[in-house]
Amino acid sequence: MSVIKKSHLFEIVSKDCAGRIGRLETPHGVIETPAILPVVNPLHQSIPPSELREIGAEGLVTNSYIIHRNRELRSAVLEVGVHRSLGFNGPIMTDSGSYQLSQYGSLDLSSREIVEFQAAIASDIGVPLDIPTPPNATFSRASRELDVTLERLREAISIERGEMLLAGTIQGSTFTELRRRASEEASRLGFDLYPIGAVVPLMESYRYRDLVQVIVASKEGLSPAAPVHLFGAGHPMIFALAVALGCDLFDSAAYALYAKDGRYMTSRGTYHIEDLRYLPCSCPICSTHTRGELAGDEGLIARHNLHVSFEEIRLVKQCIRDGSLWELVEERCRAHPSLLAGLKAAVSHSDWIERVDRMPKSTFFYSGPESARRSEVQRFKRYQKRFELRGRVLIKEKDDVVDDLDDFDYVMDFKPPFGAYPALLRESYPFNAEVTVWDHEAVLVAIENVRELIESNPDASFTLKKPGWVEEDLIKELEEYALVV
Ligand code: GUN
Ligand code: ZN
Repeated sequence: MSVIKKSHLFEIVSKDCAGRIGRLETPHGVIETPAILPVVNPLHQSIPPSELREIGAEGLVTNSYIIHRNRELRSAVLEVGVHRSLGFNGPIMTDSGSYQLSQYGSLDLSSREIVEFQAAIASDIGVPLDIPTPPNATFSRASRELDVTLERLREAISIERGEMLLAGTIQGSTFTELRRRASEEASRLGFDLYPIGAVVPLMESYRYRDLVQVIVASKEGLSPAAPVHLFGAGHPMIFALAVALGCDLFDSAAYALYAKDGRYMTSRGTYHIEDLRYLPCSCPICSTHTRGELAGDEGLIARHNLHVSFEEIRLVKQCIRDGSLWELVEERCRAHPSLLAGLKAAVSHSDWIERVDRMPKSTFFYSGPESARRSEVQRFKRYQKRFELRGRVLIKEKDDVVDDLDDFDYVMDFKPPFGAYPALLRESYPFNAEVTVWDHEAVLVAIENVRELIESNPDASFTLKKPGWVEEDLIKELEEYALVV
């Protein structure tokens, strides 16, 4: 029985928010995450795997159930292995047929058989046969099906699988407590990768708020060091958000499925190729073809879809390096109201992000009310509890000139959305934030923080120089606590 924890197979090399750049080691090479593994149909490859690699794929996903179901293909793949069969010598993850299970209700193959088969064809990452319970199932169904999934995960751990990595898929429908239970249990069993399952229906119907809740609940039960896969996520507009919440791997058939319907992806959303008068992309496809040529050729659209997906992942990685991933998330999430709902759900988990986030980063850009709830602001709220102030404290805006500075023991800067911090820190992260707009939310948070600061320092007397740009009503709240001048 091989129950050795193989967490050393995933090494985190850079972090930002809950996102990271990592190295996942597999028998056929390292995948640098975040990464997209395009889904390849084992029966007909519309884009040859060698070309997928040229476009940017570091690994692929294929379906072991489809291979198994086809007698000829099965014996061929058993003979030469899945890598030679597909003509791809990099990491290959094999899915288990769970999708087919969700479509047909049952399969003629057990989870044990499919895991053994995956190992026999030398898959790099095997996936047991989880049950993808759809969103909004009844609690009793979701719970019952989760029990079956967990039983299969338990069984899979004990199957002899050679060097193959094993994925433990998290299910639980849209119930956060089930997702958390699933990930805690999978974590105890110890897998090499943790996919979050049954989220395709959420993404297809733009339910990004629910998607965020599912991701965070699943992540909460896992070790922060564990690699996480988001099953079936293949639209570039959600990569930044999903990565910022700690998803490392994506697989998708979306590039090809979208292309079939003439849907052209961009990081801001999807266009129907017929509606495009211009091609808003300069990938090798779009820069050498006309719109008309793309419209008549789904292979070209699929290739474009892949190019923009890999481009977005490269940008996400650069942002992680720079510490500006959250800025990218806020930008991307303004492309669609449903993404904005996802962003709002994400900032409601800022305390969780804050616990795993790095400091410092590149300059904090305040870009709207959601920024007021960022993890850095959350962190400052906790951090300011450590300020021990006595005597006379002046809180003023950076550029305010006062004549009687010497009368004060401490001088603090007032700056939304933080509140008040020692003026000496104004050039340091995050107080050097670019906050050009003092919107209602930013001021509200700042004033709440100042009030807490005053309350936790009863031995100090506070003078607040009334900031310009702040609504009178908001400042009034502080008059009870400080001398407002
Ligand atoms: N592909 C897309 N969603 C899922 C899922 O929930 N489970 C598995 N095994 N594969 C998937
Ligand atoms: Zn293009």
